Amino acid sequence: MEARNENSLGLGLLRQPATVIFGPGQRRELPTLARRLGTTALICTDRRMLSEQACLDLQAGLESAGMRVIAYGDVRPDLPRTDIQTAVDALAGEDIDVLIGLGGGSCMDFAKVMGILINSPADVREIFGENRVAGPGLPVITVPTTGGTGAESTCIAVVNDEDKGVKVGAASAFMEAVATVIDPELTLTAPSALTAATAVDALSHLIEAYTATAKNPSSQDMKDHLYVGKNVLTDVWAEKGLELIGRGIPALAENLGSLEARTDVMLAAYCAGLAINTAGTAGCHALQSPIGALTGTSHGYGVGALLPYVMRYNLPARIPEFARLGKLLGVQATGNEETDARAAVEKVETLVVTIGAPNDLNQLGMTERDVPAVAEAAAASTRLIANNPRPLPVPIMEEILLGGVRGDLNWWDS
Ligand SMILES: NC(=O)c1ccc[n+]([C@@H]2O[C@H](COP(=O)([O-])OP(=O)(O)OC[C@H]3O[C@@H](n4cnc5c(N)ncnc54)[C@H](O)[C@@H]3O)[C@@H](O)[C@H]2O)c1
Ligand SMILES: [Fe+2]
Repeated sequence: MEARNENSLGLGLLRQPATVIFGPGQRRELPTLARRLGTTALICTDRRMLSEQACLDLQAGLESAGMRVIAYGDVRPDLPRTDIQTAVDALAGEDIDVLIGLGGGSCMDFAKVMGILINSPADVREIFGENRVAGPGLPVITVPTTGGTGAESTCIAVVNDEDKGVKVGAASAFMEAVATVIDPELTLTAPSALTAATAVDALSHLIEAYTATAKNPSSQDMKDHLYVGKNVLTDVWAEKGLELIGRGIPALAENLGSLEARTDVMLAAYCAGLAINTAGTAGCHALQSPIGALTGTSHGYGVGALLPYVMRYNLPARIPEFARLGKLLGVQATGNEETDARAAVEKVETLVVTIGAPNDLNQLGMTERDVPAVAEAAAASTRLIANNPRPLPVPIMEEILLGGVRGDLNWWDS
């Protein structure tokens, strides 16, 4: 058994947008919020959303509030890097006061990057990594339409560097949105596969943040890094999110049109965003990136399919945390921590399957032959790997991946 994961400093650290408005119908507050920030708004969205009534209403509302609106509708899923350069060129010289990222994670991440690059045009690769943004950009308001990535509250934008075939994060406290408006009604149009992928992404964020490494950072570490470890404040949000998602996923699976279930899952996703914004993600996220590039499957499906296997490996190092996590997800406690920890892993599997997401890597199209290359590529995600509860050298990642391809749901020897 490995050593306990103590936050001996009793540290609490959290970053979040200064204004958060949550609730069905609250998107109507957007024009008032945006008008406080200036007179020209850039809406960053995608083709689908551009012609949706919610977007048309937003434009009309901003104009009635006396604002000039530029609607940019060319954001594509997973944010290809070259699209960002195209947009920077297209929007150079525009006098913009506030950006509104309206859509899923891709549109919100696009707005966060553009908020930095519009006034200081640069190659986005210059801000890849942690804390490489020199100063504040334009204010950004995030408006999620999936429940969700948590990108409405995180300081990171994930960009697909197509040439290299990898997704890269640009992370900086300067990329925190000034405000977010989270309206669960906007998710009602999300089809079942998107709903499933984004819900299990949120589930994975909650689990990875709650069981991540407590780093006991020095003052210098807190200056230099955003991801300084799980702490008492990230746990507050992770615990609330786990409670919400434990009941929200089954209710949503039963009725995709339930606003109550959509609201629970969207609030859980927001809680998860707050937790990962400081605690960071871990093994599932490290392994998903090359699997997504290889199979062309969504981020959410990848992390969801990895959860049962990465959790099995992590189990011996996080028995008390897994037992508590299971209770929060609604598992009846037996009083035996090890039994309860295993029940938590089984509950997570059940939630993944219930919402209709894949629970093994074979379903994503990965084969045993792909295992060495995926493990090798995942090793590049050093920050995520270091945050995992147990060490993840390449041979261990290969074992986990093999388990995932074979759908091996036996209990593994520690
Ligand atoms: N910044 C972060 O903290 C963070 C965290 C996790 C994931 N991400 C990134 O977010 C992106 C994934 O975001 P996503 O899963 O929210 O989807 P997305 O933004 O990539 O959109 C996927 C598709 O769903 C459609 N869509 C979105 N909302 C809809 C709705 N309500 N109804 C119908 N269709 C809708 C979009 O038009 C698009 O075609 C990836 O690029 C991922 O890397 C970022
Ligand atoms: Fe994720």
